[in-house]
Amino acid sequence: MGNRIPEDLLEKIQRTSDIVDVVSEYVQLKKQGRNYFGLCPFHGEKSPSFSVSSDKQIFHCFGCGAGGNVFSFIMQHNGVSFTEAVQTLAEKNGIDLPTISPTDQGKTLSKDAEKMIEAHELLKKFYHHLLVNTKEGQSALDYLINRGFTRETIDKFEIGYALDSWDFITKFLSKRGFNLSLMEEAGLLVKKNNSDDFLDRFRNRIMFPISDHNGSTIAFSGRVLSEEKPKYLNSPETKIFNKSKILYNFHRARIHIRKNQQAVLYEGFADVISSTESGVEHAIATMGTSLTEDQARIIRRNVNEVVLCYDSDSAGVEATIRAAKVLQSAGCQIKVAMIQEGLDPDDYIKKYGSEKFRNDVIGATVPFMTFKMSYYRRGKNLQNEGERLQYIENVLADLTHLQSAVEREIYLKQLSKEFDLSIDVLKEQLQHFQSRQSNVSQQPQAKNAVSNHMKRNPIAKKKLLPAYHTAERMLIGHMLRSKDFSQKVLERLGLQFNIEEHKAIVTYLYGFYEEGNEENVSSFLSRLPNSELQDIVSNIAMITLNTEVTEQELSDYIKQVLNHQKMLMIKEKEADKKEAERNKQFREAAQIAMEIIQLQQALKS
Ligand code: UTP
Ligand code: MN
Repeated sequence: MGNRIPEDLLEKIQRTSDIVDVVSEYVQLKKQGRNYFGLCPFHGEKSPSFSVSSDKQIFHCFGCGAGGNVFSFIMQHNGVSFTEAVQTLAEKNGIDLPTISPTDQGKTLSKDAEKMIEAHELLKKFYHHLLVNTKEGQSALDYLINRGFTRETIDKFEIGYALDSWDFITKFLSKRGFNLSLMEEAGLLVKKNNSDDFLDRFRNRIMFPISDHNGSTIAFSGRVLSEEKPKYLNSPETKIFNKSKILYNFHRARIHIRKNQQAVLYEGFADVISSTESGVEHAIATMGTSLTEDQARIIRRNVNEVVLCYDSDSAGVEATIRAAKVLQSAGCQIKVAMIQEGLDPDDYIKKYGSEKFRNDVIGATVPFMTFKMSYYRRGKNLQNEGERLQYIENVLADLTHLQSAVEREIYLKQLSKEFDLSIDVLKEQLQHFQSRQSNVSQQPQAKNAVSNHMKRNPIAKKKLLPAYHTAERMLIGHMLRSKDFSQKVLERLGLQFNIEEHKAIVTYLYGFYEEGNEENVSSFLSRLPNSELQDIVSNIAMITLNTEVTEQELSDYIKQVLNHQKMLMIKEKEADKKEAERNKQFREAAQIAMEIIQLQQALKS
């Protein structure tokens, strides 16, 4: 266990698994010029934007942004881990693999992290065995079956049971040679008060394994069988488990998310599991915390539309609004699936069945604005003039945030009809809100320009990219093709790329060449730690022109990249100058103008 797949064996498997052949098993491909095209298996589409390059041995979808090499294709298509993808391809080609542990994710994990994952994988199987095969697990199994989970679901989600014992797992791990302090660090054990002894963290709980986005088990959440508190006990934050970056069930749901062009976000594990059981498989959940920016970014990279399906209680409603805001600023479109008062999605499915859930809940979503309107109504008596006015003002204030004028018009009409107000009056009031809004937000907008930019994903990239972004992509494109070129960029630019993801990619690329590897996009892709970076690299590798770069072009690109920071500063100063002028601080405005000129000169030099 623990031995990773030898490099040369990986290469052999990669060489013998021609990506065109492998993909052709799942997608009908047609040759067009140098590349093959077909309908993308990762999102629903009618005209082919999924392309496969035989020369580069990579795939990329220009529609949804998915991309990678032959291993990533199998991982994403079959929803399996890197190791499992390697195994599948090795088997196909009759190549024998040494026994490998599921921790071999083809990326550089520290030895400790590898051990931690190995223990989680092992315990996941053991807990599952205890639940389904033993007398001790019977009451837990009964509980799950009584709740309506099928055996198939229990197997699919690898649900397990932790025995009612203080040290069973401690002994189990110790016997297998795991370092117990490390296991405490991994969150599986806890230290006994004032001693060097360890105890099991999870006792007498139903165990839900939590995977990272590659499918490796990295944490657990354990539910009590009774109404005791805490209901769910979660693994703590560890080296391998970062709650704010993990979405429950993401590795299984990803392919369904792309196919449906939509993700359904829940609050609880039970909701995700029931949803999947009911046929709504593009289901994910946060880890019992509010949705974070990181999680929103991960979702946005895979899909544009998110359905929020939270509990119907007031906490659920508040959480819906919070999550929607985070998702909106990541660039997602939000819909809300409303559940009847007093139930959560899991309860609803159990009570009314899958079909009704699919049709009347997931199939009957409302736009976020409509949801908010009903939220503002809650507890208000609209017969009362004061409360009615407050309601209308709430709605108008929100309408100012809507991008689409058409949408705004729809809601204005709705208000006008419902309260018998002239649409002109409403529009006037809306304009009043808008001017107030723009006064407040001018400043921060300029400052947020960079970060908004980074949040943009391949799907949105159909828009024209700013020059520095294109320059960075061109540089990376040429670096992928030439080691020498990469060396030049290293010397002149190092890691000074503006886009976070690009910075990460070149870091890996410098390392890849440093280790003595030759130019090979497909092998390089296996070194990248996540599919987000793989998507970007395959996109760049697919679209970059196959021409030599002149010294002049190189200098131009580098200048574009370096100038971007200066340009941002100029923009900020211009906003400051306007502000100063508005406040009639003319001396200050003149001073800022001077600084702007200096920056502009620096740009030209
Ligand atoms: P809920 O209380 O809504 O749980 O918490 P649930 O999903 O309906 O669970 P069941 O149906 O009673 O089994 C939603 C999520 O909040 C987190 C868990 O992630 C849970 O899925 N949570 C809840 C905790 O982390 N700890 C708790 O004690 C309770
Ligand atoms: Mn529930």
